[in-house]
Amino acid sequence: MNNAVNNVDIVYGADWGDGGKGKVSAFLSRKLDNTGKPEYDFVARWGGGQNAGHTVYVNNIKHKTHIIPSGIFYGIKSLIGPGCVFNPGLLIEEIKTLKNNGIDTSLLYIHPNAHIATNDHINEDKLKLSESLGTTSKGIAPAYAAKAARTGIRFCDFIGGKISLEDYYQEEIEFLKNYIFNGSVYGNILCEGAQGFHLDINWGNYPYVTSSDTLPYAACSIGFSPKKIRNIFAIAKIYDTRSGVDPLFPESLFENNELLKICDAGKEFGTTTGRRRKVNYLNLDMLIKALVTAGGTHLIISKCDILEEVGIFKLIVDNNLIGFSSISDMKDFIKKRIELYCPEVERIIFSSSPEIVEGL
Ligand code: IMP
Ligand code: MG
Repeated sequence: MNNAVNNVDIVYGADWGDGGKGKVSAFLSRKLDNTGKPEYDFVARWGGGQNAGHTVYVNNIKHKTHIIPSGIFYGIKSLIGPGCVFNPGLLIEEIKTLKNNGIDTSLLYIHPNAHIATNDHINEDKLKLSESLGTTSKGIAPAYAAKAARTGIRFCDFIGGKISLEDYYQEEIEFLKNYIFNGSVYGNILCEGAQGFHLDINWGNYPYVTSSDTLPYAACSIGFSPKKIRNIFAIAKIYDTRSGVDPLFPESLFENNELLKICDAGKEFGTTTGRRRKVNYLNLDMLIKALVTAGGTHLIISKCDILEEVGIFKLIVDNNLIGFSSISDMKDFIKKRIELYCPEVERIIFSSSPEIVEGL
């Protein structure tokens, strides 16, 4: 068997997360090659943990995932990569929920080097960070801190029993040990990003960031050469949202009736936390930065239907708010500006559907 990596496609957020990566990853996962087999051999997550909340519609049924890659819905090997962190109890819950909804989870794989977000990490996150930074309380910062300090516990350590064993951990080990990934990725790989460019630990508005690398270059940690990268799908919405604390999204945004209208029409409540997200008009300069710096080749802008529904067509450009008389004028302006400033972007797709990305 040929074990080489063939082509790699990457989906990443060109925003603060919540732009529709789950939708795009699921859509791509359904693609078939010209022999009728799935295009991808693996769908893999490279970073983050259960702070992510990806919404995937399968046959009109809404599923939510936090760490399990979208390939699981389509019979594709789904790998939690070595750069991820996860809490075993929460992962078991996620597996069981999918199973109860009729999804086959036998193709889930966990890389031995992925790190454990322990229950203590979760408690520390809740106590020290959830309020000041608005974290998702999934133990992300403490788990990555332990990893960087080289005191962390990898999945292989966990199932090898190198953790003070409470009874529930014993059960978790029994449940999860068969999911260990003993090998390397091969064939075509779809890398499913989490969070987004402006939450990245290097590029975001530190310390109002997450603790992982959200840019597509970090996908190489899954185990392939950067030369194998084919397409880089950058995802954003036609308006900006932010869950959690960030001075770039002040509380005063909640006082703007137009933005509240967009929030309600777009059902902008966190998948992981249930919190009302802060909404702002799309900042085109920040989107361009996220494209140019990270190297997007395709741009997918979602939820255009929401602005049509509320009839509000505005953008922030050069720190000015500018308005348009229709969605098509607004799209044209975005398209021209991206074409001008982002020569690596080959295609721009505007999407108006929770399930389908027309033209991808
Ligand atoms: P943490 O990743 O839980 O530490 O949270 C750090 C910041 O990133 C907080 O402002 C969170 O709201 C935000 N964040 C983390 N993951 C996501 C996500 O998947 N979507 C949107 N925001 C996120
Ligand atoms: Mg999300």
